[in-house]
Amino acid sequence: MSQSRIPKRTFDAVIVGGGGAGLRAALQLSQANLKVALISKVFPTRSHTVSAQGGITAALANVSDDNWHWHMYDTVKGSDYLGDQDAIEFMCRNAPSAVYELEHMGLPFSRLDNGKIYQRSFGGQSQNYGGEQAIRTCAAADRTGHALLHTLYQRNIAARTQFFDEFFALDLIRDEEGSILGVTALEIESGEPWLFEARATLLATGGACRIFRHSTNAHINTGDGLGMVMRAKLPLEDMEFWQFHPTGIPEVGSLISEGVRGEGGYLVNKAGERFMPRYAPNAKDLASRDVVSRAIAQEILAGRGCGPQGDHVYLKMEHLGAKKIKERLPGIRELSLQFAGVDPIDGPIPVTPTAHYMMGGIPTNLHGQVVSPVRYGPEEPTRGLYAVGECACVSVHGANRLGGNSLLDLVVFGRAAGIHMIDFLRENPIPRPLPQAEVEKSLARLARWEKKSGSETVAGLRVEMQQVMQAHCGVYRNETLLREGVDKLDAIEARLPDAALADHSKMFNTARLEALELENMFPVARATLISALARNESRGAHSREDYPERNDDQWLRHTLYFRDNDQLDYKPVRLKPLTVETFQPKQRTY
Ligand code: FUM
Repeated sequence: MSQSRIPKRTFDAVIVGGGGAGLRAALQLSQANLKVALISKVFPTRSHTVSAQGGITAALANVSDDNWHWHMYDTVKGSDYLGDQDAIEFMCRNAPSAVYELEHMGLPFSRLDNGKIYQRSFGGQSQNYGGEQAIRTCAAADRTGHALLHTLYQRNIAARTQFFDEFFALDLIRDEEGSILGVTALEIESGEPWLFEARATLLATGGACRIFRHSTNAHINTGDGLGMVMRAKLPLEDMEFWQFHPTGIPEVGSLISEGVRGEGGYLVNKAGERFMPRYAPNAKDLASRDVVSRAIAQEILAGRGCGPQGDHVYLKMEHLGAKKIKERLPGIRELSLQFAGVDPIDGPIPVTPTAHYMMGGIPTNLHGQVVSPVRYGPEEPTRGLYAVGECACVSVHGANRLGGNSLLDLVVFGRAAGIHMIDFLRENPIPRPLPQAEVEKSLARLARWEKKSGSETVAGLRVEMQQVMQAHCGVYRNETLLREGVDKLDAIEARLPDAALADHSKMFNTARLEALELENMFPVARATLISALARNESRGAHSREDYPERNDDQWLRHTLYFRDNDQLDYKPVRLKPLTVETFQPKQRTY
């Protein structure tokens, strides 16, 4: 199909992704009277932000003594010193105003008796640089993401953001000078491709934990923005770092919020022993997630797991009492009843570490501009391209994200990107000519997935890929496992051209969509394995059995992965904050 026959719409800015990050950036732009298209694979309020449960972290000091600098310290330590300290300062400093802004937009936070925003304990949060537990995570019961998403969506409707719901973004359109001029997308209902032309494009496509077999993520989290970026020959950063949330329901993967432990729940092994004090004597069950997930894995490996297979542990919360559970954790009770068949008022919930969050992603600066390394100079922004939220790596989470910092990341950097885009659009009022060949290339890729016979199924290949990632790149890795993983992944990907599709070109379909998603997932999985192989140390969520120590001499640097020839490059961690002193790397204990 030639470009002349596809619908083209022109906007000032196009936002790809309707979760918290995309909505926050879109709002900034629409409120500045810019013409904004937001294209989303699902109806925006079904985006994965909706399942963020426990809260958004900000040092409001409503419950415990607090300040943003303590939050910054915890985030740097939580990141195992791989987070960039300028970005972390920016996020933690701006956290209280970001939360108050949401409150003023109408986000229905739970309340303390004095009417202030309710805050709960979350993992890795301390007072006074590693002292007592801080009570810092602001919550709307256990449905904070749901409340945030609906609030931002309604504000965007009021600001006249133009929504293109159920459109699947295909490719970035990049001219010869490297500027991004919009995207191609598939209208899911009609099966027709569209062209969205814009002087600025922002990717907010969320995470990609669906590359793993067991994940807390929605089925839509297939790394579409990452695939687009790799096809545009741009790198991905720190792809070896994936967070395994300690408490997912086994097999189904549903998230059981850290908020349960924040409210006083705790983990036990098959002997009924509360085991976390052995691994984290101070923070216990509220150590950071990488620490708790490793502890659970150790218990299971040592034969102290629960259930007939000994493959999980229990999360106890009966002692919290029915009133507190119903008031503060109603969604958790519902999930547990539905997916584990347990009423947590009466008995413990089976839980196991489950893929939850991608710390790496599309490299950006503090304005959300996508950046590429220039080997002997400063990083270069890709003109007209921005990324925010889980698909981006700014990097505030480094090697391990703290709970409650992801909703914060969305709103702080969504706003920052929106502000920068407004300036960029004002300084660049004239659209650049669209490169026809790039559009044709994207349409040719799509055409490969029209009616076609073959001996494989997309769903079958996807499951095989997920199993490889689960088995070869989980909580613990080693060189042999990772190398085998690469070989197996190659063999599965090589079968992709043999996948069969019925004639879906002119009707609503999911098969073609799933094939296109898989084309994004394979390179994300590969980037993960190759980056994990290269990093021969253990840091945060990346635990190498063959290199159990952190190696600051060699590895205080970010990995950059380029799809062409699996090339790797590196850039140093930005240890210097904006206005305060550096938190120097030191041994990390909880
Ligand atoms: O456990 C949770 O409620 C998840 C929160 C987060 O990932 O930030």
